[in-house]
Amino acid sequence: MGIRDGWEGLLHGRTEVLDGVNTSGIIDRGGTILGASRTSPLEVKNGPQRVLDTFNELGLQALVVLGGEGTLTATSKLFEMGLPVVAIPKTIDNDVEETDYAIGFQTAVQIATDALDRLRSTAESHHRVMILEVMGRHAGWIATYAGMCSGADAILIPEIPMDGEGIERLCRMLKERKGVGINFSLVVVAEGTILEGKPITKPSFDAERGGESARLGGVGQILAGLIERETHLGTRVSSLGYIQRGGTPVAYDRMLATAFGAKAMELVKRGSYGQMTALRGNRIIGVPLAKVAGRIKTVNLAMYRVAEKFFG
Ligand code: F6P
Repeated sequence: MGIRDGWEGLLHGRTEVLDGVNTSGIIDRGGTILGASRTSPLEVKNGPQRVLDTFNELGLQALVVLGGEGTLTATSKLFEMGLPVVAIPKTIDNDVEETDYAIGFQTAVQIATDALDRLRSTAESHHRVMILEVMGRHAGWIATYAGMCSGADAILIPEIPMDGEGIERLCRMLKERKGVGINFSLVVVAEGTILEGKPITKPSFDAERGGESARLGGVGQILAGLIERETHLGTRVSSLGYIQRGGTPVAYDRMLATAFGAKAMELVKRGSYGQMTALRGNRIIGVPLAKVAGRIKTVNLAMYRVAEKFFG
């Protein structure tokens, strides 16, 4: 049984409960067959109470929620208010605490890695610095893993702010490569990377949330300008955007989604609510949502240091 449109439906009491949803043949599909909203019940007046009311009116017994840090924080609050809920971490950002991986991350890493492999052609052919901007609001997991898998010459992530000195160091490295006859470089930058003290955003009107908002994006372009001015090396940017969030899931994500789904059902059957499924090493376990709520899992810097050994 599924709930159409996630929080959105529950908030507005016009939820369609899809009984007997046909889930055959969906294992190779990305996205969601139920539909989902970007609305958080915590940002809507009386949101949590409205969700609870709809849930009770529908006579439901348990809710399984899938999402990233924002969704999981809202879910934890709803559990405290009495909603019988189990959660599954699902975000390409992989910034959910208490689990090694969230569903979607490995697919995004594969897409970004493929993109970097393709960018290397232009970089080598035209002797350029190619920058790939990937997603990662608060944490640079995709940038770190995809950069590592592609032998990137530099990886910029939100966890390591770039000040003037950092940019100078990056430019020096790019010029040194040129100096020893290597005519191209690959740089990966996470969208949330802090440049000179702030993340790069564009003002926009957010139709889904109904208001003005600042949307992340553009750090790659700004970085390219700085590099080109400082090094005089031809520099180009590609922003991967929503391409990294869709399409066919890689095998690892299918395995993780299946294992998380089975664990969630086990938790529901046991009545172990307020738990999130999590991967620890090769074990699938349940962890209290309270340990996840309001927290961001930043990049494992030991792993970043491994990627760093191959910079330049
Ligand atoms: O799913 C997480 C994320 O991909 C972030 O990295 C990105 O900033 C954001 O979603 C974009 O969200 P939206 O779909 O609201 O534009």
